Amino acid sequence: MNILITGGTGMIGRQLTKILLQNGHKVSYLSRKKENIPDVKVYTWNLETGVIEADALKDIEVIVHLAGAGIADKRWTEKQKQEIIDSRIKPIQLLNEQLQKQQIKIKSFISASGIGYYGGDTGETKVNENSPAGNDFLAVCTKIWELETKKFSQADRKVSIRTGVVLSTTGGALPKILQPIKLGVGAPLGSGKQWMSWIHIDDICQLYLKAIEDSTMQGAYNAVAPTPVRNKEFTQTAAKVLKKPLWLPNIPAFVLKLIFGELSITILGGNYVANKRLAEETSFIYRFPTLEGALQDLLV
Ligand SMILES: NC(=O)c1ccc[n+]([C@@H]2O[C@H](COP(=O)([O-])OP(=O)(O)OC[C@H]3O[C@@H](n4cnc5c(N)ncnc54)[C@H](OP(=O)(O)O)[C@@H]3O)[C@@H](O)[C@H]2O)c1
Repeated sequence: MNILITGGTGMIGRQLTKILLQNGHKVSYLSRKKENIPDVKVYTWNLETGVIEADALKDIEVIVHLAGAGIADKRWTEKQKQEIIDSRIKPIQLLNEQLQKQQIKIKSFISASGIGYYGGDTGETKVNENSPAGNDFLAVCTKIWELETKKFSQADRKVSIRTGVVLSTTGGALPKILQPIKLGVGAPLGSGKQWMSWIHIDDICQLYLKAIEDSTMQGAYNAVAPTPVRNKEFTQTAAKVLKKPLWLPNIPAFVLKLIFGELSITILGGNYVANKRLAEETSFIYRFPTLEGALQDLLV
């Protein structure tokens, strides 16, 4: 299939591209800048002016929407919060409008989403796709993101991939989590009891491939491994795999709040998320169902 990826230059996009090309698909990107990427045609767009390079949408069958300002890149000022929302929503509206103008219908619109949908801290409740949305910033942002995806009238099929913490050595949260552990000063964060629902980078990309190819998939799916762990267990497992000691007391919550402000919810809050729809309704098989296996693969 001809697949157009927004934000394809990012952590998930680059790995997904490899997998799509290996599986015989054609890949193009919509990016804010021209770049030479082997086997990929890169088109540019400007979200401020709403201009998309000519021909970017020609013959496209599937759009994978990964673009968006990094959630944890900067402190959440009001300006940054708006940027986080706009950079996800505007592209969806712009793509749908342009397809409409050019009278193009595509097969599927597959968008990233996040487990932040359920709220930054869902405590001990194991949430699934039927659980209600939360009402903090990230939950509201994710809810709008998914609503816009649902409204994408120029695609027959719409899927939202409610992604957990993606584990990769090339970006995202893992390198930041590992840094103090590697230096021998690793410690659980806050109470250490908060749940972390994670997924290996290869599994999330295989899941996107499945969502592209499996025409029965529709709506929102939790993209998390079947074995979430608490922050303390995550830290201990990482230290074990890296053969590093863990001897410091937990880093107190108030210190993290001082450093990160409202963004600290992403560290101190927890999400205990079930992969209910993937397990019950699809044949998706995880390559890395356990944290130790995932970290062994990535780090050793
Ligand atoms: N990684 C995770 O753990 C995780 C967890 C939950 C949800 N997700 C979601 O999954 C999607 C992909 O994640 P990722 O880790 O691959 O993200 P990423 O590495 O940060 O890449 C996202 C891409 O979006 C584009 N982008 C960045 N800022 C932008 C802005 N202000 N306006 C428009 N485009 C912008 C960039 O592409 P160009 O420079 O080419 O334009 C960038 O390469 C994101 O929406 C993310 O929120 C990821």
